[in-house]
Amino acid sequence: MTRILNICGARPNFMKIAPLMRAYREHPGVEAKLVHTGQHYDAAMSKLFFEELELPEPDVNLHVGSGSHAQQTAAIMQKFEPIVLDFKPDWVVVVGDVNSTVACALVATKLGVKVAHVEAGLRSFDRTMPEEINRVVVDSISDLLLVSEPSGVENLRREGVPEHKIKFVGNVMIDTLLQHRERSKWSTVLSDHGLKPKGYVTVTLHRPSNVDDPASLRRLLGVFEQVGKEMPVVFVVHPRTRGKLDELAKDAPLPAGLKLVSPLGYLDFMALTDNSFAVMTDSGGIQEETTILGVPCLTLRENTERPVTITQGTNHLVGVDPKNILKTWHAVRNGPMGRMGTPELWDGNAGRRIASELLTTPASAT
Ligand code: UD1
Repeated sequence: MTRILNICGARPNFMKIAPLMRAYREHPGVEAKLVHTGQHYDAAMSKLFFEELELPEPDVNLHVGSGSHAQQTAAIMQKFEPIVLDFKPDWVVVVGDVNSTVACALVATKLGVKVAHVEAGLRSFDRTMPEEINRVVVDSISDLLLVSEPSGVENLRREGVPEHKIKFVGNVMIDTLLQHRERSKWSTVLSDHGLKPKGYVTVTLHRPSNVDDPASLRRLLGVFEQVGKEMPVVFVVHPRTRGKLDELAKDAPLPAGLKLVSPLGYLDFMALTDNSFAVMTDSGGIQEETTILGVPCLTLRENTERPVTITQGTNHLVGVDPKNILKTWHAVRNGPMGRMGTPELWDGNAGRRIASELLTTPASAT
C-alpha cells in the first residue's frame, strides 16, 4: 500500500488536486488522503470548487485562514506536522506555488517524508513575487519534480537538480479544464450578466504588485475604462482586490462603466472565459486556460513563469504600462493574434501520469 497525503489550500490548488484524487482511484494499492489547509475559506473561493470539481470532502481541514505570510505559513506548518506524524505517508504531494505549498513541503521534508511537487520548475525570475520564493524553496527540497511545460525542465536542470528527480508529465490544470468544458456550456453566466458571446472582455487582477499600490491599481482601472468604451468589460473581483477597490473608492469614485462581478465558480468562470473576446489578467492559471480555449490573453505583468503560453499559446505579455496594454489590445481587437496550439502533454492525462510516477518511484529511491 502506498500512502499519499495530498495538499490543497487556495483556489488554484483545487483544479490541480482534483485529477490526482481521481487518478488514485484507478490504483487499488493507493491510500490517498486530502488535506485542506483552509488558506481560502469563503464558500465562493473553496466549497463551490469542491462541489463542481467533484472533489472528496477533505479528510482534514486545518482552518488556518488569512494572515501575513509568516503567520499563515507558520500556522499551516504547526497544524500540519501532527497530521504527517499520525498518517505516516510515503509521499506528501503539493501543487502550485501558494503558501500552503511551501508550508507543507517544509514540514514533510523535515520529518523525512518524501515530497512530490506538481507544477515544478516554473520560474518568473522575479523574487519580489511571493509565489516565486515559494517555487524556488519547494523545488529545492522536493524529491520528485513533476513538470508541466518544457521551460520547467530547463530551469531545474540549470539549478542542478538531478535528472532522475525531474519528470515532464504535462499540465493537471488542463486535465480539469478538458474534463469540465462540456458541462461549462450549460452555465447561464452570460445571460445572468447580459453578455453576448465574443462581445466582451474579462478582467481579473489580484497580484500584490498590481493591486496593493493605489496608484498602480487606479492606472489599470483607467485602462479598463478605455477598453470599456469599445467593448463591455467584466471585472471578476478577487477578495483581496475587492478590499483594495473599496479603499480606493473612498478617495475618488471608481471609473464608471466597469461591470464588477463577485468571484465565480469554476464552471461559470470557464464559460465566461471561453466566450470572451479577450482576457486581461495577472493570474498564472488563466494564461494556461486561455491557451487551450484559444482566447487571446493579455497578461498584465512584466514576466511570466509560463512561457509556453506565449510561444505556443494565445498569451501576450504586455506589462502594466497603459500605452503598451492598449497597443496590444488594439492589435488583438483588429484581428486574431498569436499562434494557437496545444503545448506538449496538455492532453487531459497528466493526473494519470503523476499517479504512475508516484507508484513507480519508490519513496526510498529518490
Ligand atoms: C493566493 C496565492 C496566490 C494565488 C491566489 C489565488 C499565496 C502567496 N498566494 O493569493 O498565489 O494566485 O491565492 O486566489 O499563497 N480572502 C478572503 N476569502 C478567502 C481567502 C482570502 O476574503 O477565502 C482575502 C483575505 O482578505 C486575505 C486576502 O484575500 O487576507 C489574501 O488571501 P491570501 O490567501 O493571503 O492570498 P491570495 O491573494 O488569495
